[in-house]
Amino acid sequence: MRLTYFGHSSFLLETSHARLVIDPFFTGNPSCSTSVDQISCDYVLVSHGHEDHSGDALALAKRCDATIIANYEIAEYFTAKGARTHGMNPGGGHTFPFGRVKLTLAHHTSSIEAGENPRYMGVPCGLLISADQKNIYHAGDTAVFLDMQLIGNAGLDVALIPIGDNFTMGPHDALLALEFLKAKLAVPMHYNTWPIIAQDAGAFARLAGTGGHQVKVMAPGDSFEV
Ligand code: NI
Ligand code: MN
Repeated sequence: MRLTYFGHSSFLLETSHARLVIDPFFTGNPSCSTSVDQISCDYVLVSHGHEDHSGDALALAKRCDATIIANYEIAEYFTAKGARTHGMNPGGGHTFPFGRVKLTLAHHTSSIEAGENPRYMGVPCGLLISADQKNIYHAGDTAVFLDMQLIGNAGLDVALIPIGDNFTMGPHDALLALEFLKAKLAVPMHYNTWPIIAQDAGAFARLAGTGGHQVKVMAPGDSFEV
């Protein structure tokens, strides 16, 4: 399978049977030069409600006739707006034609249309995707937590983990996450999009390397074969 990064927490995962976009954030993403109109997919996976993860989900799902996979509240929200959806909740997995998706815990918040009356969008989640004999974990937005050890028990080929700090774990805690997840390879995300989450991903990768963890820093537009 092929993994492409669009900046922030936005990825395309091309399996042998389907194209999955995770946390689509093209419109208004300062680190992404790809337009949402250039993307085609079969599924849109959304970790939580915040617009920097769900912003382009509806437009993408409608244009591509793709299914949105997310927690129950987010799925219902997009169903009401005319999208095809599949609702789940943490701990639950489902086998789709391309493989299996399991929602995991994440420690964060989840709302949409924030402001005076934000809509509560259920609990934030991480995504464990199993396809083509590979396991990919997208942590969503989260703090580090000890139960990441359980997620790591699946045997992770790639872990996508936030390092931006302020809204999610920062580099120090992300190093702990690497210890818990024991992924063959980790990719940092959710950093450098705005000054408040500016981080030196290269320095993080070097520190991780001294701890025996392989970290691949991807620039927006980069892709590689998992
Ligand atoms: Ni968030
Ligand atoms: Mn976020």
